[in-house]
Amino acid sequence: MEDLSLHILDIVENSIRARAKKIEIKIIEDKKRDLLNIEIIDDGEGMDEKTLKNVLDPFFTTKNIKRVGLGLSLLAQSAEESGGSIKIKSKPGKGTKVKVTFGYSHIDRRPLGDIHKSLKVLIAVNPDINFIYEYRENGASYHLDTKGLKNDITNNK
Ligand SMILES: Nc1ncnc2c1ncn2[C@@H]1O[C@H](COP(=O)(O)OP(=O)(O)OP(=O)(O)O)[C@@H](O)[C@H]1O
Ligand SMILES: [Mg+2]
Repeated sequence: MEDLSLHILDIVENSIRARAKKIEIKIIEDKKRDLLNIEIIDDGEGMDEKTLKNVLDPFFTTKNIKRVGLGLSLLAQSAEESGGSIKIKSKPGKGTKVKVTFGYSHIDRRPLGDIHKSLKVLIAVNPDINFIYEYRENGASYHLDTKGLKNDITNNK
């Protein structure tokens, strides 16, 4: 996996497969604490406790055509390489939150990559999903909500 934007695509693919209708992607640069936080929050099917326990195991997957499930374990590995960590919360019927932290200036922290390209692809390919994107760095922030965008287009704003 080359960069974090590709990891994000991978994690969002899990949310899409879990039939999420709303997916939030947050990128928070915390230069004071030298951390880069990424959160992906969905309102999809969620996971039961047993699934959640196995989710970081590279040999665990609920895709029935393959025997490995690498998305989350590779992300966990990238986080650990930079001195960071991953936390996953999930409730069946409610949704899933993946929070991953990287050491911002750690030499092994992968670059963010072309996050805008990843977003464009996700939004174009999944017109029925409401994507909320938030980018925060100390003081400044950027926010995009495709629901708001679509309402604006329909109301010709
Ligand atoms: N957002 C989510 N909602 C519900 N279940 C999830 C979610 N993310 C992961 N899972 C569950 O965790 C399993 C492991 O996910 P992971 O991304 O590591 O591998 P995968 O999606 O099975 O395969 P790969 O990512 O390699 O194509 C999935 O098969 C799925 O059962
Ligand atoms: Mg996956």
